[in-house]
Amino acid sequence: MKKRILVVEDEEKLRRVLELQLMSAGFDVDKAATAEEGLKLVDRAAMVLTDLKLPRMDGQEFLALIRRQNAQVPVVMMTAYGSVETAVEAMKAGATDFLLKPFSLEHLMQVVHKALEVRALREENRQLKEELGRRYEFDNIIGRSAAMQEIFAAVERVGPTRATVLLTGESGVGKDLIARAIHFHSPRKDRPLVKINCSALPENLMESELFGYEKGAFTGAQTTKPGKFEQADTGTVFLDEIGDVPTAIQVKLLRVLQEREFERLGSNVTRHIDVRLVAATNQDLRAALEQGTFREDLYYRLNVVPLNIPPLRERKVDIPSLANHFVTKLAPETGCRVEASTEAAMEKLVAYHWPGNVRELENVIERSLVMATGAQLDAGDIKLESAPRPRGLNDSHFLPEGLSLDQYEQDIIKEALRRADGNKSQAARLLGLTRNALRYRLTQMGLES
Ligand SMILES: Nc1ncnc2c1ncn2[C@@H]1O[C@H](COP(=O)(O)OP(=O)(O)O)[C@@H](O)[C@H]1O
Ligand SMILES: [Mg+2]
Repeated sequence: MKKRILVVEDEEKLRRVLELQLMSAGFDVDKAATAEEGLKLVDRAAMVLTDLKLPRMDGQEFLALIRRQNAQVPVVMMTAYGSVETAVEAMKAGATDFLLKPFSLEHLMQVVHKALEVRALREENRQLKEELGRRYEFDNIIGRSAAMQEIFAAVERVGPTRATVLLTGESGVGKDLIARAIHFHSPRKDRPLVKINCSALPENLMESELFGYEKGAFTGAQTTKPGKFEQADTGTVFLDEIGDVPTAIQVKLLRVLQEREFERLGSNVTRHIDVRLVAATNQDLRAALEQGTFREDLYYRLNVVPLNIPPLRERKVDIPSLANHFVTKLAPETGCRVEASTEAAMEKLVAYHWPGNVRELENVIERSLVMATGAQLDAGDIKLESAPRPRGLNDSHFLPEGLSLDQYEQDIIKEALRRADGNKSQAARLLGLTRNALRYRLTQMGLES
């Protein structure tokens, strides 16, 4: 297939000469007399050959617009008012090469071939990096379960876009990790990734943290300070615990999301930024919507690409590989020689319901490694945090008057089935049982044959 070169030159005669020369060298040619016309044709060009001085637009500005549309395409600048400085400026602005007018057709062809070669090399380099990125970045995120595989695929799909992603899932499921993966699978990976933990900040502080302030904006504002959004310009902002953002600030976030603009505290200068947003929450935002504590318009702006990371107990197939991963990672740090886990240890880990998810698993493995004496982690080395009993046992939380343990258990099982709309897998989950264990109890209750 022939490569297509876009020639942008306002001088008709030169445009025609360039066209003929390039066509006879085996290229397809698009021609434009102005930057505006040229921009419409950039997308299909393998290379751009443009005059530095165009009507209504200088070459640098044009270059910036080309780059915005197509970051890869090589651009060769032709400059007549032959100062080398302008050509150097063009190179700094991202031109691939330049030609000082007048130039010979032979020199033109040399420059064109070189620029196309640069493009091919860049493309090859990009592909190599992408492959490495895939192996490396997902290497440290373990997940064989279908649910995690889907999430990895989604990260690869949406990472390169600027779409806002809303990560949901219980605490410890890996939201931070996935937020990072999204950033590192985006063209912004070499730009800042700024994380803001919304629950850690009181309202008045949050506003100045996010948007910055001018000197004198409030008592104690002795200097001007840019906020996190400004720090993240051209990069990614990760808003953690978005469900905790106070309503007053939700309005301002909405504006950033919609218009990509804001003002520093105490300033009336509107600032524009280019950020990609990833938000995370372990709360049910829909419930917050109903209660009116979370703005609906903000929710829809955030929920462009929703990614739910299921709790670990719903993807138990991930437990053994996660456990092995943490043993390999943590054994050297804890200075012990454990290399693997026994089958019994694995069974114990898989059977547990992990209310603290992957974070809890990591902690448990770390503690177990410290306890372990042999070369393998055994069931006895593993000390699970006992089932959470937030209220503890006391008078009001013992058996209700007059009920036996069996009757009480039956009531709770029925309640779980009711809450799960009769779905046994879900009811079992609510009870921290396997589906089989629930079946067994139901059979005993005479509710299932
Ligand atoms: N799939 C996974 N593979 C490897 N490590 C994980 C995975 N998911 C979570 N972790 C680890 O578990 C801990 C908690 O994860 P994190 O991303 O902070 O969870 P969250 O933000 O949802 O609370 C971190 O140390 C993280 O590295
Ligand atoms: Mg987190």
